[in-house]
Amino acid sequence: ALERTFSMIKPDATRRNITGKIVDKLESAGLRVVAQKRILMSKKTAEAFYAVHSERPFFQELTEFMSSGPVVVQVLEGENAIAKNREVMGATDPAKADPGTIRAEFAESIGENSVHGSDAPGTAKEEIAFFFSGSEITG
Ligand code: CMP
Repeated sequence: ALERTFSMIKPDATRRNITGKIVDKLESAGLRVVAQKRILMSKKTAEAFYAVHSERPFFQELTEFMSSGPVVVQVLEGENAIAKNREVMGATDPAKADPGTIRAEFAESIGENSVHGSDAPGTAKEEIAFFFSGSEITG
């Protein structure tokens, strides 16, 4: 089915000026960018976005990193967009990511792993709504 998912290009990637290379991977996989903006998250915004991880030992590190530089937030649309995006991102740990995936090619570590993508329809809906109003999304 035609789906939408939420995607974020992380500060390690904006710092290295490779957002275009990442968008190329997404588009080449058949995903369409139907909304996009570059923003700087505050620590508080990063904490709210990643609230589900608040009890994890890496929460401080994660939210400090995610507010350390600009991110590019996106809505991606395509057939099975959620699974397709996860496939093209590769495993969270770049050492375990399949060759050719975004994380295999670009990620620096498990924390600084270049991209985030929603893991299920419910989180996709929530994460899109966290950053975008309906009128900002145009197929
Ligand atoms: P993401 O898909 O953005 O969702 C949560 C993030 O936490 C994950 O990608 C990783 O970047 C980060 N993360 C997961 N495990 C660790 C870890 N052990 N140390 C630091 N960051 C982690």
